This record gives sequence, C-alpha cells and structure tokens, in this order.
Amino acid sequence: MQKGEMLYEGKAKKIYRTGEPGVYLVEYKDDATAFNGLKKGTISGKGELNNKISAHFFRLLEHRGIATHFLEQVGDREMLVRALEIIPVEVVVRNIAAGSLAKRLGLAEGTALPRPVVEYYYKSDELGDPLINDDHIAVLELASAEEMNVIRKMALVVNEILREYLSERNLELVDFKLEFGRSDGEILLGDEISPDTCRFWDAQTKEKLDKDRFRRDLGGVEEAYQEVWRRLVG
Ligand code: TMP
Repeated sequence: MQKGEMLYEGKAKKIYRTGEPGVYLVEYKDDATAFNGLKKGTISGKGELNNKISAHFFRLLEHRGIATHFLEQVGDREMLVRALEIIPVEVVVRNIAAGSLAKRLGLAEGTALPRPVVEYYYKSDELGDPLINDDHIAVLELASAEEMNVIRKMALVVNEILREYLSERNLELVDFKLEFGRSDGEILLGDEISPDTCRFWDAQTKEKLDKDRFRRDLGGVEEAYQEVWRRLVG
C-alpha cells in the first residue's frame, strides 16, 4: 500500500493517506509527551511496540465482536485503518483508582473500584482536555445521545474483554482511554490501545508497566513496554 500525503502529525502518531480512499496509514512514533505536551521525550522502540500491541488488541476485540478501525499491520511501526470522523471525546474507563481520579476524589492509588467508572474528556489541547459529562457533550454537539449510548456500552464491553485477557497474563487493567469515530454511519473504535493509553500493573507486585514510568520518571520505560508485549504473546 502506497504511503501518500501526511494528513496529521500528533504527539505519538502520524496519519497518511494511502492509494485507497477511506483507508489511512498510521505510523507510530518513538516520541512521548505528558502533561499536555509540557514533558517531552523519546522512548526508543516505543513506536514498534505500540503498533504491535495495538494491532494485537484490535484483533482480539474484532474477534470478540467489537467494530474497530483496524484493518492490517503493514510494517514494524505501521498499520492500515479505516478513515474515521473522530468524535473529540476521550473515553476513560477505570477499574482501580489511579492518576487523575485518585487525585480528584482523594482515593489512595490502588483502591479497587466497586464497579467500572466511565469518564469523558473533551479533546482540546487549548483547554487541556477538561472532564465533561453527557450534557456538555450535547451542548457542544460533539455526539448525539444515541451515539454516546453506543460508545459507553462499547467501552464497558472492551473493558470486560481486555480485563479478562490481561488477568490471564498476570496483568491488572487499572484504567485506559479510548477514542471513537464515525464511518458510514457506524461507530467504530479508533486510535490506539497501548501502554501509552492504558495503565497496566503486574497483578502480584503492582509494578507499573505503562507510560506512568515516563510521566513519573521511574526509569525502565522501554523494558516495561517490552514486558507487556512479552506477556501478550508469550
Ligand atoms: P488520568 O488518570 O491521567 O486521567 O488517565 C486515565 C487513563 O487515560 C490512563 O490509562 C492514561 C490515559 N490517558 C491517555 O491516554 N491520554 C491522556 O492524555 C491522558 C491524560 C490519559
């Protein structure tokens, strides 16, 4: 598949047109940012690992009946996806208190939540991705109530599938972020599912095996991403 014009460069990925209408090529970068771009760095090998890990999760989810944008992995750091009209809402699902939830609600990091918590954030760099609710989404006309119903249900099913799959691999799915988009009137899961966008803890030791190692300067970032990949395929 030919790599055409670059349409968009984000913090961790580049999107290119391809020879085929409606199909984009995603290239995963080694660049990492945190705190809305204030902290910048490079994690060597990250692009390749996140491409492989995301492709692995998308295949698993497709197999379990979740409609995603994923088509095919075509290179070490490249995948083909269906072009989406992205809905500018980050959907976070949480099983264990960590990060901004622990801070906002005053819960100790690691507190198990009695049921999954779904949160929405408005994708806006200028505003710093504020937490929003269904009413905000309606007022800003980001998505219809019907679409948000589908999205919430899909996010919770994704949580159940990933949680079970990871627990068999001795990993706890603490929380994660999803993005959705429209394609031919259908809602598809888009973006990526990787240690950049999820929190994975070792089930026994609770060692962090995700981007928090970069955000919090814990070291061993690349090794952690490699360990996640090893557990998925090992
Ligand atoms: P938070 O605790 O910082 O709100 O993060 C919740 C989850 O969302 C965590 O798994 C990391 C992921 N996330 C992203 O993918 N992108 C972001 O910009 C942020 C802030 C979090």
